[in-house]
Amino acid sequence: MQRVKELPLVMIRGIGYSYPNGTEALKNINLNIFKGELVGIMGKNGAGKTSLIRTLNGLIRPTYGKIYIDNENISSKSIATLSKKVGIIFQNPFHQLFANSVEEEIKFSLKSLNLRKEEIQFKTDQILQEYNLEKYRNRSPLNLSGGESKKLTIASIICRDPEILVFDEPTLGQDAKEIEFFINLIKNERKNGKTIIIITHNVEFAYKYLPRTILMTDGQIIVDGPTKKVLNNEFLIKQTSLILPQIRQFNLVLQQNGFHEVEDVLTTNEMIDYLKNFIKHKSTNI
Ligand SMILES: Nc1ncnc2c1ncn2[C@@H]1O[C@H](COP(=O)(O)OP(=O)(O)OP(=O)(O)O)[C@@H](O)[C@H]1O
Ligand SMILES: [Mg+2]
Repeated sequence: MQRVKELPLVMIRGIGYSYPNGTEALKNINLNIFKGELVGIMGKNGAGKTSLIRTLNGLIRPTYGKIYIDNENISSKSIATLSKKVGIIFQNPFHQLFANSVEEEIKFSLKSLNLRKEEIQFKTDQILQEYNLEKYRNRSPLNLSGGESKKLTIASIICRDPEILVFDEPTLGQDAKEIEFFINLIKNERKNGKTIIIITHNVEFAYKYLPRTILMTDGQIIVDGPTKKVLNNEFLIKQTSLILPQIRQFNLVLQQNGFHEVEDVLTTNEMIDYLKNFIKHKSTNI
């Protein structure tokens, strides 16, 4: 991709953060994220993933270092201003939902956009339809299932149209249908030019859908690169308490059973092609 003159949308320059109790959650983090990218952040529990994304809308302010969004230092910008640009969907929906009904939750979120009353109602109805939440319109968000409340949180952030979307563990506890809904949603948002950051422990999801992955451990970024390369690296995977993608595990079993290392086989389709070819030329030395 041609990126000669383009500056990263998010530039993190040597930031660190310690919580008031002294826990050093982030240590000298440097990171560039370009407009339109889809990036995964992975790593073991307590690695600093959530702390890192909380710096993006000012919920925590780095102890040292600087963050630029759209080439502006965000240190003096308020959470309210930053939240218009960076929408964060947190892991636990109940930390974010507070209105008395599902409908009110969306309406409240839209209020910050200075729309007319009828426009807010129109948009709210549209969103409830889109997210299949229409039937819960009058229900308290507290009485939704885990999956439904997560969907409502996503809807309440995305309806404000922030340029950068950040999801903390979006697939956790979601059934296959909801994961599919989420995958379509990120595909659409990406088509709309959004920049998307996803924290996940879901290796298969990351392997399949995220082009770039950042691995964190102990408050630091230990690698940042193409997901398929990062997640196939046994050494890095062990360091971050993740598991190897199934296709890589299968590849290793083949090697343990006398096959040559199948280096360029990264996807199921490539593996099928490889095995078809192997069967076809069984008599020759593969
Ligand atoms: N509010 C807080 N006060 C003090 N320490 C905290 C606070 N929140 C997190 N920490 C600590 O900061 C470190 C990083 O936590 P963080 O929540 O960023 O990790 P994480 O990578 O998101 O983990 P997980 O995968 O479990 O969500 C951990 O040692 C954690 O105990
Ligand atoms: Mg976390």
